[in-house]
Order: sequence, then structure tokens, then C-alpha cells
Amino acid sequence: MNSWLFLVLTNANSQRKKEPPMSTYLEEYQLAKNEPDVFWRQQATAIEWFQFPKTILSKDHNGIDRWFADGVMNTAYLALDYHVDNGRGDQIALIYDSPVTGKKSQYSYQALRDQVAKTAGLLAQLGVKKGDRVVIYMPMIAEAAIGMLACARLGAIHSVVFGGFAPHELAVRIEDAEPKVVMTASCGIEVDKVIPYMPLVNRAILDSRWKPEKVIVLQREESLTTLNEHRDIDWSSAVAASPPHDCVPLLATDPLYLLYTSGTTGKPKGVVRDNGGHAVAMKYSMNTIYGAKPGDVYWAASDVGWVVGHSYIVYAPLIHGCTTIMFEGKPVKTPDPSAFWRVCQEYNVNILFSAPTAFRAIKKEDPEGELLQAFPMPALRTIFMAGERLDPATLDWVESKTGRPVIDHWWQTETGWAIAGNPIGLETFSIKAGSATKAIPGFSVDIVNEVGEPLPCNTQGYIVIKTPLPPGCLPSIWRNHDRFEQGYLAQFPGYYVSGDGGYIDEDGYLFVMGRIDDVINVAGHRLSTGEMESILSSHNDVAECAVIGAHDELKGQIPLGLVVLKDGHYSVDQHIEKELLQLVRSEIGAIASFKSVIIVDRLPKTRSGKILRRTIRQVADGEEYTIPSTIDDPSSVTDIAAALKLIV
Ligand code: COA
Ligand code: AMP
Repeated sequence: MNSWLFLVLTNANSQRKKEPPMSTYLEEYQLAKNEPDVFWRQQATAIEWFQFPKTILSKDHNGIDRWFADGVMNTAYLALDYHVDNGRGDQIALIYDSPVTGKKSQYSYQALRDQVAKTAGLLAQLGVKKGDRVVIYMPMIAEAAIGMLACARLGAIHSVVFGGFAPHELAVRIEDAEPKVVMTASCGIEVDKVIPYMPLVNRAILDSRWKPEKVIVLQREESLTTLNEHRDIDWSSAVAASPPHDCVPLLATDPLYLLYTSGTTGKPKGVVRDNGGHAVAMKYSMNTIYGAKPGDVYWAASDVGWVVGHSYIVYAPLIHGCTTIMFEGKPVKTPDPSAFWRVCQEYNVNILFSAPTAFRAIKKEDPEGELLQAFPMPALRTIFMAGERLDPATLDWVESKTGRPVIDHWWQTETGWAIAGNPIGLETFSIKAGSATKAIPGFSVDIVNEVGEPLPCNTQGYIVIKTPLPPGCLPSIWRNHDRFEQGYLAQFPGYYVSGDGGYIDEDGYLFVMGRIDDVINVAGHRLSTGEMESILSSHNDVAECAVIGAHDELKGQIPLGLVVLKDGHYSVDQHIEKELLQLVRSEIGAIASFKSVIIVDRLPKTRSGKILRRTIRQVADGEEYTIPSTIDDPSSVTDIAAALKLIV
């Protein structure tokens, strides 16, 4: 430990970490709403600071609310070193379980800390320092978490890119984040397909205007790659030869990471997450939302490329002293729909978290839950779901087959943790199917109409959150603060606009009904229809197009493209359709699940030329629809209905 760190730690010991007092949901909710600085000061005492913040809530130079501005800390210290220093060194911190390679391994807190410290040492030798960006494009292996924590240790800002994204998406993120280094692996494995990563990374770097100086490559024996000797570094040997690096003291407001997410335009936005507010929110959420205790085994069956993976595979379980699991597999086919139950049984999982679509996939292949019989899962207490609306049928199935409480909770990349849920660590509310239960203390949730007026209960409108947002939520969009202001804050002054619509009932239960913008949720993955439209429009034969999210039994929604060709252009043997499907797949990636496109003569539009996407979606989903009075030509809807009948 360096002497500066020792000094500040000694200093911090005078106000030792203590658990905030217990209270009821209503007390916490009211205190967080009425005296946020008092409430969050209390919560901040639950983590170890190098220097406890004197300022709890303040405004930054953009006039945005910031938390703990003068607090000094390090997230990797909280996630690892703190536990090693406090008697948890031998506890398992991370379990890697990979049915696709047949490999399993475990890291104690001590071992994980040592690996992370050496990986940070390697990054430092490559010149990475506080504030530099590092892009991490990795499959679900332990080294992905190690890379993230190594960046956090140095104060470098990581930007993890989901391994299923195509080179174009990676290039866009590299160009925006301008990383000094990219960390990757030689391949990913999708069920039984080995996907070499280096051709994807090389393509992305070629296409990007920004060139990272170095690429650190983890060679996986499933597909070794040839390294570019001027640019690439072999991960394993370089880490082994690197000296460990200490945790760098950081201000709470220094960014921990950027995570790009889909917005309404083609360009993804880099959600900025700070260090201090995030750590306090993670700790608070583990107690309050998940009822987790240090030492518990907590499994978020997601991917580090998504926000759930950042918050609940890596940071929150480790900050809370739990054991986390990195599962390189799928709910089905690796090898069968018992995969989740096997993992819960084998590692004594206490808390399981995944997306409803994962359970729908299991249900589809094992409708009676017969495979569950072999796995009593004695340690499993609660199952959490998020990423999309938890439909009542899936809720019923999982609850009845597992006999465990199933809790829906609603959140977004932007917030980093749940806005609404059933706060079982404080008080357990009875479940209402279709509802994410209540606003979590810290989030003051309202429903407003299109001019920002609060709506009475049971009336649908925009779901908004009164500012200040609690710790952990985004303070900006990376290098585009205007997009943050315009996209989230400008529409209804004093509120953050979530982009979701819904209502609150007479008991204060929140029902999230879906996005009110061009974002869709496909198998719990957030995608932009606007981006797909701009890709389709780039095809030479396309005059105009619309992409909507149509209902899908398994994935919740899937994208459906309607395309009008330029005059004189025709599709022979569905040639153009195939090209369009391939175009979206190669630009965004297979993860877009873009499998349906139809050529139509025209799109329903208003007289002012706005495409009536909502009406198209209603038609596609077989819902009741009324043709808006502003429509240019009502028969365009009937034509679309006839065309859709052929494919839906
Ligand atoms: N690398 C490369 N390709 C990937 C990938 C990755 N990391 N992840 C997915 N893909 C590919 C898949 O192979 C598939 O390709 P295909 O069109 O050639 O078959 C495509 O992207 C779509 O993948 P996915 O959405 O995962 O669909 P699926 O049919 O393979 O599996 C589910 C369906 C429901 C099992 C799967 O979507 C799932 O596990 N969902 C849970 C999602 C989740 O955890 N979300 C996080 C929020 S908590
Ligand atoms: P992401 O940013 O990828 O986590 O996606 C966030 C979006 O997913 C939200 O804005 C919602 O549209 C949707 N979502 C997440 N959790 C839920 C939930 N529990 N119920 C309904 N929608 C959800």
C-alpha cells in the first residue's frame, strides 16, 4: 500500500464504516425525498472512504446535481482490497462457469485482488492513467471483470462493449470514447459456435477514426489468434510479468465507466457513471432491494456488456462482499433448460437475477419444469427479473415451478440500479402481477401528461423522476452534455424523463407499460429502431422505411422492417429483403434479431409526413387501433394490414 493511501485510510478510520440505521420503507422514502442530503449522507457511511465527503449534494459546472463531490475513494478498493483487509480474503469472490468450454474456476477475494492489481500494473506500464479510456470487448469470462476492475483501480474509465455487437458498433464506440487501449480475447463462444474476435476488432479499428495505441489479447485455446507485433500484447504473459499496482485515490465524481446504450438516433450514447455515487447506490441496493447479506452467493445471469452485468455481476456483489458468478452459457442449449437450476444448485446461489425472456426460453423447452426436480436449490431465496416487463404468465410459471418469490424491478442503463422494485430489505409488499411494485427510496417517481402536469392514479402517461436523481444515476452523456439535457431534462423542467410510459395505481404500485420512443427491447436487450431505419435507408434501393418492435412470444419484441423501394426498383426472389436483413446483421450484429422485412408500396403517414409507427405496430400486434384523423390516406393502413398478414 502506498503511503498516501495508508494516510488517508488511517484518517478514514476515525469515522469507521457503519451500517445506517434500519427504518421502514415509508420512512426511508420520505427522508430520501424530503432531505436527500441527510438520507444519502447516512447511506454513504456504509462504504469505506479514503476521505469522507463533506459535501453531500451539490451542482457541477453544468448545473447538474452531483453526489459526494469532495469525497475520495476507489471503487476497486471497495470491491476487493477492503474485503482482503477485513478478513474476507479466502472467501470466493468470483466463480467462472462455462458450459460452452467445459471449464470452471474460482477466485478468492485475495486471488482476484492480486490478478486485478497486476492487470492494473500492465495497463499502467502501457501509459494508462486516471481519466484515460479503455474499451473492453470480451466474452463472459473472468478476465472481463478483471479488466474492468483493473481500470477502476487506476481511475481509468472503462467502456465495455457487448461481445455480440458487430465491428461497426464497436468502431462507433471506439471513435467516441477514444480509448488508449482495447482489451479483448481471441474468441467468444455462442452455444457451439466459436466466434473469432480479432477480425472484428481489427475491422473496427480500421473503420474508426480513433486508433488505440495497444490491444491486449487474451488467447483462448478454443481459437488462438495471430497477434500484430506492433500493436497487440499477449494478456496472460504480460500480466504475469507486470508488477501489482495500488488503488489510485479518486474523487467521487470521477467517472468509473462509460456504457453506450441505444437512443432514438442512430448514434449510441455514452452513459457516464461516477465512482462515489455509484458505490453508495450499489451498496444500498444490495441491502434494500435484494435483501443480500455479505457472504451470499449472488448470480446475475446476464452479460458484462449490459448495465445489469456492470452493476450486478461485477460491482455491487463485490462491494457487498458476496460471491458473484460469471456464466458463459445460455438458459437453454448449454446443454439444456436445466442450466440455471444446475448453477443455482452447484454453487448454493442465494439470489438469482435474470430477464423474463430467459425464463420464457426455459419454459418453452421444459413447460412442466420437469428438469427442476433434480435441483432442489436449497439456498435459493429470491428470483429477480428486469430488462423488460415481466408478463404475468412468466411470473406465475417461475413462481409455481420454483416455489420462490419472483420480484420484478424496473431500471435502465442511465440509472444503473432499480428505480422501482419490491424493497424486501426494508419491507416486503405483496406482488401485483404486471407491476414493478414501488419507487425505491431516492427515486421520486411521477406520471405526467404531454405538458408535464401530474396525472391522477391509474392514468397512463410519461414516467418521470423528480430531480435530484439519487446517487449512481448518470450526470451526463460522454462528451455530449447537450444530448443529456435535451434528451432527459429539457422536456419537463425539474424532471428526468425515463422514456417509458405507464401508470401508478391507488396503492402506489408502478406499472411500466413500455417505451414511448424509438427504443425497443429484444430479449431484454435495448435496441434502437431509429438506428435500424438509418441502416436500411443507406441501401441504394430504399426510398423510405419504418422499423417497429412487434410482439414476440419468446423475446418480448422483435424488430420488423417495412420498406418502400425507389421507383423502378424491384425485388426479385426476395433478393432485396435478404440484402436488407444481412445489412442490419452486419452493421449492428446478430443480437439485433432482425429477421423480418417486407416491401410495401407506401407507409401510413400524417398529412405532415410523419410515419405512423404506433399504428403500424398496433396492426402488426393485432391490437385494436383507431386511424388518426391526421392521416393522409386511410387506405394505407389497410394495405399494411394485408401485407403484414402474409408474414406475422
Ligand atoms: N456474441 C456473438 N453473437 C451473439 C452473442 C454474443 N455474445 N449473443 C447473442 N448472439 C447472437 C446469437 O447467437 C443469435 O444469433 P443467430 O441469429 O445467428 O441465432 C443472435 O445474436 C440473437 O441472440 P439472442 O437474443 O441471445 O437469441 P437466442 O435465440 O440465441 O437466445 C434467449 C434466446 C432468450 C435464450 C437469449 O436471448 C437470452 O438468454 N436472453 C436473456 C438476455 C439477458 O440476460 N438480458 C440481460 C438483461 S438482464
Ligand atoms: P436498458 O437500459 O438496456 O437496461 O433498458 C432499459 C429499458 O428496459 C427500460 O427503459 C424499460 O423500457 C425496459 N425495462 C427494464 N426493466 C423493466 C421492467 N422491470 N419492466 C418493464 N420494462 C423494463
